[in-house]
Amino acid sequence: MLKRGDLYYPSEEFKKRAWVNDDKIYKEALKDPIGFWGKLAEELFWFEKWKKTFEHDPPYFKWFIGGKINITSNIFSAQGGPASGGEKDWLARRDKPALIWEAEPIQEKNRILTYGELFSEVCKLANALKKLGVKKGDRVGIYLPIVPEVVISMLAVARIGAVHSVVFSAFSPQALKVRLQDTEAKILITADGYYRRGKAINLKQAADEGVNDTKIEKIIVVRRTNSEINWQNGRDFWYEESIKNEDGFCEAEIMDAEDLFFILYTSGSTGKPKGVEHTCGGYAVQTKFTGKWIFDFREEDIFWCTSDPGWITGHTYMIYSSLLNGVTTLIFEGALDSPNPDRWAQIIEKHKITIFYTAPTAIRMFEKYGADVIKKYKFENLRLLGSVGEPIDESAWLWFFNEVGKGRCSFVDTWWQTETGGILISSLPGIGPFKPAHTGLPFPGVNIDIKDGNLVILPPFSPGMLRGIFKNPEKYLETYWSQYGKEVYFTSDGAVRDQNGLIRIIGRVDDVIKVAGHRISTGELEAAIDLHPAVTETAVIGVPDEIKGEVPLAFVVSLKAPDNLKEEIINQIKKEIGPVALPKEVILVEDLPKTRSGKIMRRILRKLFIGEDLGDLSTLANPEVVEKIKEKIQKMENQKGFLIIILDILFVVLGIAILIMGLFTNQETLAQLPSLFKK
Ligand code: WT7
Repeated sequence: MLKRGDLYYPSEEFKKRAWVNDDKIYKEALKDPIGFWGKLAEELFWFEKWKKTFEHDPPYFKWFIGGKINITSNIFSAQGGPASGGEKDWLARRDKPALIWEAEPIQEKNRILTYGELFSEVCKLANALKKLGVKKGDRVGIYLPIVPEVVISMLAVARIGAVHSVVFSAFSPQALKVRLQDTEAKILITADGYYRRGKAINLKQAADEGVNDTKIEKIIVVRRTNSEINWQNGRDFWYEESIKNEDGFCEAEIMDAEDLFFILYTSGSTGKPKGVEHTCGGYAVQTKFTGKWIFDFREEDIFWCTSDPGWITGHTYMIYSSLLNGVTTLIFEGALDSPNPDRWAQIIEKHKITIFYTAPTAIRMFEKYGADVIKKYKFENLRLLGSVGEPIDESAWLWFFNEVGKGRCSFVDTWWQTETGGILISSLPGIGPFKPAHTGLPFPGVNIDIKDGNLVILPPFSPGMLRGIFKNPEKYLETYWSQYGKEVYFTSDGAVRDQNGLIRIIGRVDDVIKVAGHRISTGELEAAIDLHPAVTETAVIGVPDEIKGEVPLAFVVSLKAPDNLKEEIINQIKKEIGPVALPKEVILVEDLPKTRSGKIMRRILRKLFIGEDLGDLSTLANPEVVEKIKEKIQKMENQKGFLIIILDILFVVLGIAILIMGLFTNQETLAQLPSLFKK
């Protein structure tokens, strides 16, 4: 059993087979990172080779300049495929499963698509999209649950050189609208619904609401739940109808390496989400090789990533990297612990998963259910575990490694961001070492530093990193290239290095919190709460939570608070963002601690809540509010404590009552009881 502080090295057997197993690679790659990435890029299929590998015009940079590529050509054929369809015997891995879809209802049959079938579905939809007028560079919105069509849709959009912008299906109609307005998409692909914890959710209704006041002209609807939905003739099309008569071949659009590939929105310090831009060439190269080396992808692997296509992990590893490396990727529609706590373990066994990539919040949940729940599983096929999304504490790390990996699987803790496009820090499984709560070393060719405790990325950055914020160059400059100048990328994460150079991520240093791995901006929450007419001012902070890592807590100032203000605020957040961002508590206060220039001191609120020393309060313009808020929190805690005591007393009283009843009931009646029931 591995313990705290121990280092784990891969077994000799694992090492021997791994794609990379010699730590010389780190030094070599860093000597010439541009050459290093260039060499990797040569293993992909390019319609035309690039003329220059890297160009830097701070804060902008480019990779593989002049190169022509399409990611789908790289997925379906080592040679990129011919210009015409024909017999398709050029398709790579034609009969091998590319995708396994596990439905949420446990009794429902799973769906499997081979690489050949996936290609044909992708082409049919690509042709259908063309007929609807989608051209290279046009944005297409995708608002789909985890069904095979989400993968097909993304690849179809990529096939014709359009730009996908996937919106997480649990986001609210309003959140969808804001994103669609920003991208100016004319087409949206959605579904009638999906299943979650045994319930059918009507997604089409949310989509209908979300497309109001946007440029959406056509909606393609995937049939999933067969639920009753509204229909607008001329605007809405069933997915199956749209592709029915389409050809199973569509030529790939030849894309420039630096053409826009996709936009994915993420939260930052302010109220408005940012459209992170990724490009065609660099992203493909980085995605292929980070997956290949970090997950040690083999043809025979069955990979399960528990993220959602609405997040960057869903884009890069669930879909693009696994398919670029020819492995089988499993996608699961439902929640990991539904309908039973060991659903996830059942899936691993049923589909013989070899690589399991999940988030600390899931691991903490598994741990909480206890090892007994998974005692019967041997996980014999598992050979690699991965974690992503937030810092993982030692206890969860060790539990996962020992109980799920059974102490024999390498465990990669992978650090990255929506902006980096792919994993930039993680120990390599064939080299190690792995240390609880440490992500490890930067990926070869990635130049990372820690300045004043802040994690930064130095030139030449990495090929798959963002190239901009959609329609917002100021935000790009301000967020990433202003703290340390235009040549140093600021990650907004705090980090430390141990004596072996292994990096440990401390967490965000900005106003972003990670709730169950989801990236939520406190500013975005505040903007949502502020929309309520009775709210004068609000401050949202993140506080520790046993399972979710962090949860939001809202302090609200309201001069004329209606009785149900808390409830209304919760509804307001559901409407603006969705259920992922709900605060643990809404606390009504008279005022918020502020500096003399009027800046709200969220740091103080956080310290107050978790009971830390407040430090110097002399910069506050209104130190007296601190005491008042403290009393309020104290009162809340006391009330909670009181409730627990009352409940405890009730239990004791009940226990005593049962005992007394037992004593006074005579033995004969007791003996008669079973037969009484039989009658
Ligand atoms: C933020 C990025 C990248 C895919 C999912 C999240 C945190 C991510 C780790 C890790 C500690 C991590 C950082 C980062 N984060 N991975 N292994 N250890 N923290 O993408 O939603 O863009 O969030 O997630 O704080 O900045 P994202």
